[in-house]
Amino acid sequence: MREDIERVLLTEEQIHARVREMGKAISEDFAGKEVVFIGVLKGCFIFMADLMRCVTIPCMMDFMAVSSYGSGTVSTGAVKINKDLNEDIEGKHVIFVEDILDSGMTLSYLKQYLMVRKPASVHIATLLDKPSRRKADISADYCGFQVPDSFVVGYGLDYAEKYRNLPYIGILKPAVYTE
Ligand code: IMP
Ligand code: MG
Repeated sequence: MREDIERVLLTEEQIHARVREMGKAISEDFAGKEVVFIGVLKGCFIFMADLMRCVTIPCMMDFMAVSSYGSGTVSTGAVKINKDLNEDIEGKHVIFVEDILDSGMTLSYLKQYLMVRKPASVHIATLLDKPSRRKADISADYCGFQVPDSFVVGYGLDYAEKYRNLPYIGILKPAVYTE
């Protein structure tokens, strides 16, 4: 796998240090509140597992599965819900947990989609943010790192379902998806 990576953007150590800070900040901000973390599968799974162990307040967790990308590297803008929530979110503080905020189309759709269920608030925690590619009017409340406009993989992020198990975040060699 390493031979497909152009360079390591974020090491395991950098990621873990930042995730600890994010967990601490969220725990302080939401102390005493009823919180539901909603992981957006599949990309969130490693980040969420690490983040949740750095959150020190009582909370619930649930997951949604959506598809927007197919196997390409450019968003189609269309969001399909493959798995909805199991838990009731009415009156609760929702925090979406995402791997990367790119065009923002996915989260802006999901936010709207859940509004009718009357959550007390909706916030976003994303490991990575690519602000230069934003199309939807949306921003993260908690962001791990801003990244340049390159296709990145690892720590849960995939290209065509591969590379999720890399422990670091790396820039994928363009030859992997252009050939
Ligand atoms: P958005 O709707 O454009 O914000 O897309 C968000 C989703 O696109 C993320 O949850 C990722 O699954 C995927 N995505 C966007 N950029 C990248 C990338 O650089 N690497 C891997 N997946 C990405
Ligand atoms: Mg993906």
